[in-house]
Amino acid sequence: MAILISGRGSNMKTILQKVKEKKLRVEVVLVFSDKSDAPGLALAQEFGVKTATFSPKSEGGPELYEQKLAALLKEEGAQWVICAGYMRILGKTMLSSFKHRIINIHPSLLPAFPGLKAQRQAIEYGVRVSGCTVHFVDEGVDTGPIIAQRCVAVEPGDSEESLSRKIIREEHDLYWRAIQMAVQGVVFDGRRVEFNVRSS
Ligand code: GRF
Repeated sequence: MAILISGRGSNMKTILQKVKEKKLRVEVVLVFSDKSDAPGLALAQEFGVKTATFSPKSEGGPELYEQKLAALLKEEGAQWVICAGYMRILGKTMLSSFKHRIINIHPSLLPAFPGLKAQRQAIEYGVRVSGCTVHFVDEGVDTGPIIAQRCVAVEPGDSEESLSRKIIREEHDLYWRAIQMAVQGVVFDGRRVEFNVRSS
C-alpha cells in the first residue's frame, strides 16, 4: 500500500504501528505528501518507510501532478492507496489507475456532512450522534461505497474540538481494521460492500 497525507498523519502513524506489530498484514511501500512540510513525513521516516513529496505547483499543474503521482505509486509497487488526511480530491488519472483500490477516512457518519470541517458541520447542525466513515474513493466528494463506520455521542456542551477528539480516537481504532477487511477481498453489490472474510 501507499499512504497519502497532507498533514500531521496521526491515522498514518496508527496504520504503520499496526503493520509493525503485524496486526495489519500489509506492506507500506511509500508515504506521499503533497505538502513538503507535513509533520507526517518525518513520522513515516521514523518507521523506516520511504517518503516522497511534490505538489501541483512544483509539477506544472494538477494533471501532470496526478500523472506523476500515479506513476510513482505504480513504480513503488503499490496496489492500494490509503488516504489519511490527504486534502486533495483525486482525479480521473488516480481513480482509473487504482480502480476500487483507493480508501479514505472521513470524520462524520456519511452521507451526512461530507467535505471540509465535518465536525463543525455536525456541531452546527445539532446532531446527537456523529462518528467516522471508511469508504472507497469515487469521483464524488466523500460519496464512495462505505466499508466501515463508528459512531460517537455528541453531548450538550461538545465543541468542534471536543467532538474532533472523540472522533479521531475512533478513527485510529477503525481505520486499520477496515483496511484489513478491504484488502482481504470485497464484493460490490450495487453500492454496497460485502466482505469475503469477516473481521475478527
Ligand atoms: C482525520 O480527521 C480524517 O478523518 C480526515 O483528516 C484527518 C486527518 O488527521 N480525512 P491525521 O492527519 O490522520 O491526524
